[in-house]
Amino acid sequence: MKNILHVASECTPFIKTGGLADVIGSLPQALKKNERMDTRVILPLYDEIPEKFREQMEYKSSFDVPLGWRNQEASLFTLEHNNILYYFISNDYYFTRKGVYGYYDDGERFVFFSRAVIEALPHLDFEPDVLHAHDWQTGMVVALAKIMQPVENLKTVFTIHNIKYQGVMPLGTFDDFFNLSEEHIGGMEWNGMLNCMKSGLYHADKITTVSPSYAEEIKDPYFGEGLHPVLQERAIDLTGVLNGIDTDDYNPMKDPYIPVHYRSSRGKKKENKLAVQQKLGLPENGETPVYIIITRLVEQKGLHLVQHILNEFLIEDVQLIILGTGDEEFETYFSDASNRYQGKLVTMLTFDEGLARQLYASADFFVMPSKFEPCGLSQLIALQYKAAPIVRETGGLKDTVIPYNEITGEGNGFSFSNYNAHELLEVLRYSLEIYNTPEHWHQLLKNINKSQFSWKDSARDYASIYSELTTIYA
Ligand code: GLC
Repeated sequence: MKNILHVASECTPFIKTGGLADVIGSLPQALKKNERMDTRVILPLYDEIPEKFREQMEYKSSFDVPLGWRNQEASLFTLEHNNILYYFISNDYYFTRKGVYGYYDDGERFVFFSRAVIEALPHLDFEPDVLHAHDWQTGMVVALAKIMQPVENLKTVFTIHNIKYQGVMPLGTFDDFFNLSEEHIGGMEWNGMLNCMKSGLYHADKITTVSPSYAEEIKDPYFGEGLHPVLQERAIDLTGVLNGIDTDDYNPMKDPYIPVHYRSSRGKKKENKLAVQQKLGLPENGETPVYIIITRLVEQKGLHLVQHILNEFLIEDVQLIILGTGDEEFETYFSDASNRYQGKLVTMLTFDEGLARQLYASADFFVMPSKFEPCGLSQLIALQYKAAPIVRETGGLKDTVIPYNEITGEGNGFSFSNYNAHELLEVLRYSLEIYNTPEHWHQLLKNINKSQFSWKDSARDYASIYSELTTIYA
């Protein structure tokens, strides 16, 4: 039996800003179920975590966390949920704030969290064999575990969910945060700054990222966000393990948010479409192809491409629904555009889980033309709800969406290669052509029904990384 402790900054159902939370909220369950590992998760106790969870938490202990020349106090709480034990670290100064990220001292907040995880280890009643840390917020815990060896033979895995965000601070903060000798600066520094992502990459025993294609891409300057030399250096320890989704939760046969349950029936899917059209004030017509975009409205998601071709695309007999929040530039553009295209385009600047699922259930197509995409989960959810994904061939999108091929009849969606608006337009028009050719459309839907992205295979891949670490090197 192996003990795995996941360290992360967000996790569903407690706190979520993006796909990282979904992964942390479902991978431990899969590891426990399929691989029989004792997997636990440690998280910051944010103010934003709903009261219904807070009141079930059990207080375990309090301890000092040394940060450079000072001590901060931390308290440890536990909560069992869905068969997994979660630990929460509280500190009023760092985590009793609104939201999750976006503070000037985010770097310091997560250095504190990382340091606190090390101090918490003796209080857990659980001795991890592997500490599995995720994204920049936990890069320093990997470094500290390596340098301080708080538990004998403790191994570390560091997973990159998005290399764009690195947690960068002035180098002068090294003495403020750590009581370490200067020889350790080298492993934490990058381009003259303290860099949490780099620290994780440098110190981890194994590095993973969330798709095989992204694992290749980030070794290249175009995708590596300046860290490609570090990844090239560590290439033999870097692998891509595709994310899964919780197929029990994202299940159109029993999703409580959607009006009509279905397995693969187009008739029932149409009923969901009519319900959404009615709700959003769109012309009610089950035959009109519905395209949806559900995303954070940020540049990464390829929204500039959508802007460029919106007018040309909306000439077609289609409906487009956009759901999400994000940068003002996109929020303004797409909500103005929906005023111009009433009856064709609806933009909803909010994030609402129930509505999102109703859209997946109603849609024929899911559009995701990302500039880069480490894995992407929503194209997998779209497939689960039998909507055909239309994606750009990058990262995990490339690994999960196979373009439909009229000759062989293979493929579960549509894709285009260059970050170019007219390539997107072309593939959108092509998707309509297929929609209007019953022979091909039925074949495509058949292939979509067979697409499977549960955690099963990926949990096995992680389990073998853990056992390689704990048996060969122990
Ligand atoms: C980040 C990435 C996304 C990935 C998710 C979970 O949000 O941008 O592609 O699916 O992490 O790993």
